[in-house]
Amino acid sequence: MARSIGILGTGKAVPKKAFKNDDFVKHGLDTSDEWIMDRTGIRQRYIVEDETTSSLCIEAAEHAIKSAGIDRDTIDAVIVATTTPDYPVFPSVACLVQAGLGLREVAAFDLSAACSGFIYATEVATQMLKGGHYRHILVLGADTLSRVCDWRDRSTVVLFGDGAGAVILGDVKKGYGVLSTKLGSRGKDFDKLIIPIGGTKTPITAENVDSPDRYLKMDGKAVYKFAVNIIVGIIEEALTLAHLKKEDITFFVPHQANKRIIEYAREKLGLSVDQVYVNIDRYGNTSAASIPIALSEANDKGLLKSGDVVVTVGFGAGLTYGTSIIKWA
Ligand code: UT7
Repeated sequence: MARSIGILGTGKAVPKKAFKNDDFVKHGLDTSDEWIMDRTGIRQRYIVEDETTSSLCIEAAEHAIKSAGIDRDTIDAVIVATTTPDYPVFPSVACLVQAGLGLREVAAFDLSAACSGFIYATEVATQMLKGGHYRHILVLGADTLSRVCDWRDRSTVVLFGDGAGAVILGDVKKGYGVLSTKLGSRGKDFDKLIIPIGGTKTPITAENVDSPDRYLKMDGKAVYKFAVNIIVGIIEEALTLAHLKKEDITFFVPHQANKRIIEYAREKLGLSVDQVYVNIDRYGNTSAASIPIALSEANDKGLLKSGDVVVTVGFGAGLTYGTSIIKWA
């Protein structure tokens, strides 16, 4: 009989240093708290100093293991969704997490799908678990985009924050857990959100080392349009796969990229303000970490009840997108 796979525990971690909108002004950037709040809903974000993507993952994972109440020796795989690993090519963050948590020598790998990464990783883990050979899988979404932003570029650096979110996936009651998932990509728009230099296509050289192309570049308007165009349609497709309708949604946990995008989706889905989790004001856009951080906070606050239909949705570089319909166990 097919296993029902769901979230058994959640955790999160952010760096110690909070960075407020006005701190950018103090750093000499031509911006304002008013512009950032008004256009994005962000008030502050957390920025790494001595922390790394892997150290945030390890802290978030410890919380998730505790929250799930499982023995760490029953974790049979680690998947980290990230595009900002500690090291440029290898080793993976997942291997550092496996060692840092003192896990057995289990499968460990990173997955690259930018801000949609957590939903991709959850789907991979769910299918691995349904295959029957794994007991629990630790799934993390983690990014430290402050390290790859151009701190001279007000149009991008103010948007992002650092953090990690973790879940433990495993068996739940029959009919509960991940009911359906819809993933997609639009690679023709790869250049809408990109770090042009520093990969194997254009390695860093003495000539280009100071180029702004070494950092994250985004066509904000194009990504915004992409997000509002796809979100509702993919959620409706996933709901249909799960034999549900918009009216069945209890709680919405969207990727936290812009409060205006979240508000647009909320209205189109016919949800009340109370049915949507929003924490972009405190964390900014933490990329792959935003959905599991939000899930962890909502779970800690007791906002997620058994039987609730929880909808997650993500979108970002690639371009990629994804949504999961979860019946909270
Ligand atoms: O997680 C990955 C997915 N990413 C996203 O979903 C991001 C989607 N995009 C967005 O959220 C929005 O497009 C942004 C928040 C990035 C930008 O908002 P916008 O309303 O599209 O603003 P804009 O880019 O059209 O800029 C409007 C004005 C421009 O000035 P002019 O040309 O009208 O004189 C910008 O130069 O605002 C200016 N501007 C700023 N002003 C003060 C841009 N950034 C800033 C800033 N402070 N930080």
